[in-house]
Amino acid sequence: MSRKHTSVETRYMEEREQTLRGLEGLSRRGFLKVSAAAAAGAATLVGGMSRHSFLPVRIAGAQPGDKGFRFAYISDSHLYEEKVNDRFVRGLLRAVDDVNRMDPQPDFVLYGGDLAQLGQASELQLGQQILKTLKAPLKMMVGEHDWFLDLGDKWRELFGPELYSFDHKGVHFVTLMSVVEKDFWTERKLTPMERMKTVAGLDNGAQRSFEVGEAGRKWLADDLAKVPKSTPLVVFSHSPLYKLYKKWNFWTDDAEPVQALLKPFQRVTVIHGHTHQILTNRIGNIHFHGMLSTAWPWPYAPEGLPELTIQMDRPDPFNPSDGCGDGSFDVHPDGLVDSIYRLWNRNPVSVKASYVATGKTDRPPTNSRRGY
Ligand SMILES: [Fe+2]
Ligand SMILES: [Fe+2]
Repeated sequence: MSRKHTSVETRYMEEREQTLRGLEGLSRRGFLKVSAAAAAGAATLVGGMSRHSFLPVRIAGAQPGDKGFRFAYISDSHLYEEKVNDRFVRGLLRAVDDVNRMDPQPDFVLYGGDLAQLGQASELQLGQQILKTLKAPLKMMVGEHDWFLDLGDKWRELFGPELYSFDHKGVHFVTLMSVVEKDFWTERKLTPMERMKTVAGLDNGAQRSFEVGEAGRKWLADDLAKVPKSTPLVVFSHSPLYKLYKKWNFWTDDAEPVQALLKPFQRVTVIHGHTHQILTNRIGNIHFHGMLSTAWPWPYAPEGLPELTIQMDRPDPFNPSDGCGDGSFDVHPDGLVDSIYRLWNRNPVSVKASYVATGKTDRPPTNSRRGY
């Protein structure tokens, strides 16, 4: 067959083979394990669609004597009920399959928010059912699409409190509720669904900006007061905890006072959802990683993009899952993380702590495909 007519599918398979060939530095056993896992990913069929999930290579853990660990991240599934839209449901199933195939299994899985599209009980319950099939322990975070129909009643009933922290292998983890909005609905006499749909619009200009809010900041200050400043800190938030682009609410309005609470710690990583794209930033000692969605990729904001961000390629408009995926984090013994973006139709991209710290070392590969 002429190279000119090589199908997209064939090209993906060739790239996968190339990735595997590039792993020759791994031990024989490690190589076989990755090969088998990738073959399993390629062979899986869900909803009649063949899959080409590229699985990540453990980086931090590859060093002898490394005492790091790994956790996985799934986010922004935006589920409607299956009878309304089954594509997003298949997206979440695919992510769960990806994570369940990880070997070894991650220590836990963080769900990064926007499980539902319109905060309805049926959507949240469907998400809960699917996430229950994860083998690893699950930690939940809330997004605005989960919240603004009933201001969190159903979400709390299913998943517990929206603000919590836990310690794991020497790292202090904090899960925030960063999509609080000041009341814009009472005066305008909006119904709960009108309020939900207003928040669900990306750029309608009718809502307020996201914030952690006074109560959330007080909770965070109290929580962190108990933690030694030398303890590595990983903070989960749905919105980025900085100010990127206000018109789309890629934004946290009280970012400065929240960052001030994190600043005294020596090593801080913030991992967020909401922006549905590879997004990298560092402000002082705080490393920020924006994660992928299982539903759709957002375009990059027209201004305000952090200098460190290496933009992911433009998604293929004819492939609804292109630009989507899930991810995982290798946590180094020093508490900083390598973020691995597991794009379903492309090779994984790793944004390492060393790149975020220096802006130079271990720079992720730049765009190789300029769009379609
Ligand atoms: Fe989202
Ligand atoms: Fe969101």
